[in-house]
Amino acid sequence: MSISPSREFEEPLTLSANFLWGGAISANQSEGAYRADGKGLSTVDVIPHGENRLKIKLGLEENLAIDPSAYYPSHEAIDFYHTYKSDIKLMAEMGFKVFRTSIAWTRLFPKGDETKPNQKGIEFYRAVFEECQKYDIEPLVTLCHFDTPMYLVETIGSWRSRKMIDHFVNYAKTCFEAFDGLVKYWLTFNEINILLHSPFSGAGLVFKSGENHDAVKYQAAHHVFVASSRATKLAHEINPDNQIGCMLAGGDFYPETCHPEDVWAALNKDRENLFFIDVQVRGAYPRYTNRLFREKHITLQTDPTDTEMLQHTVDFVSFSYYASRCASRQMTQSSEANVVKSLPNPYLKKSEWGWAIDPLGLRIAMNTLYDRYQKPLFLVENGLGAVDTVGTDGQVQDDDRIDYLRAHIIAMKEAVVDGVELLGYTTWSAIDLVAASTGEMRKRYGFIYVDKDDAGQGTGKRIKKKSFAWYKQVIASHGENLN
Ligand code: BG6
Repeated sequence: MSISPSREFEEPLTLSANFLWGGAISANQSEGAYRADGKGLSTVDVIPHGENRLKIKLGLEENLAIDPSAYYPSHEAIDFYHTYKSDIKLMAEMGFKVFRTSIAWTRLFPKGDETKPNQKGIEFYRAVFEECQKYDIEPLVTLCHFDTPMYLVETIGSWRSRKMIDHFVNYAKTCFEAFDGLVKYWLTFNEINILLHSPFSGAGLVFKSGENHDAVKYQAAHHVFVASSRATKLAHEINPDNQIGCMLAGGDFYPETCHPEDVWAALNKDRENLFFIDVQVRGAYPRYTNRLFREKHITLQTDPTDTEMLQHTVDFVSFSYYASRCASRQMTQSSEANVVKSLPNPYLKKSEWGWAIDPLGLRIAMNTLYDRYQKPLFLVENGLGAVDTVGTDGQVQDDDRIDYLRAHIIAMKEAVVDGVELLGYTTWSAIDLVAASTGEMRKRYGFIYVDKDDAGQGTGKRIKKKSFAWYKQVIASHGENLN
């Protein structure tokens, strides 16, 4: 949206009055109850905690049977399936205007390909969204957050197969109809670009030896795009008020030096991720893919109807932001801390898990996205993963998290003054949950502490951290009081 040249330029742009403040979680990292009420197995349910985790997430392990001696964090997580009422009550106490969560595809369709949904799954999510409604909290719902049905992985190779499009669209349609009137903001796929970096958790892909990984990934991405576009079209037909977003794991790449080849390397690393949003916002493949696909020996299998279908583009661009990234012409040394490989940036401090802390990078990312797409943005994940301890007084003093969030909210507001349109902000996470990358509980993100450890031991008791009262005051003051 542009502003008129006749407008007075004396007043800075600000957060809109209906700006959505809140927090986020995902089904697989919080709900647990992984076989309750008929739920089927999804990819995340076969990803154990421990040394085999990364190999499986990257799609390099073909044996995906559950090992009884291993620990699978998603199976119990923080038991949100049973505690959602009291947890949402705490979120309401902080003043949340929006609560982001996801629906587990396998609660509605245990195998993924059924025509009729499991009513128990529908009832659970209706109850969650009605609980939000009770407190005037707007749900923001992701349809697929790193949890593809395992049955579809095993029988058709997940998103390698074009058949996935129909299965996903049936699932999406079921959600739009079942939760019509309760949910208006939808995201189709969480961090869609993570499919390239963590193919099994991102898209249920397991590689066979000797095959061209890039060809498999981009073919899967094509099917995901068509599925997302068809879902977007349907959502708009079912209720024109529905707002559909894409979702990027964001953070710009900085060139390590001003050497032109480093700048070119950074541009290409950015493109690798922005490619996904280019398609979902512009409704067509960008021209640079011609060369990219040729050089990577990729021949996409498409259908003549795809070109038209892709034109059903998203209404807004959502993204996560934890850190900026750094690239050079020689990406030999990489930070092991994140699936999106990046060089260390000597100008930035790091979190305990080695993620660069860069609030200005958020402002840069927001300006990049808005300049490129001219669509409203929604910052749907941002936060600090840190070890929190309960003191002898029973309190959790998470000052580092408050400092992190304060600095990022300031940067976010600066981006709005720069001209970026922003619908809302959901921190990661509303409440402690299982870390997606490592499967740990000790990497905590929430305003609410959950008494559970990396082995799943603990009472599950909830404790309000210091950041709980702080964020409550941030929301109440519409982002003005950040002290
Ligand atoms: C994003 C995901 O990648 O980052 C979340 O959408 C995830 O699911 C978050 O939890 C933080 O990453 P991690 O690995 O620290 O949990």
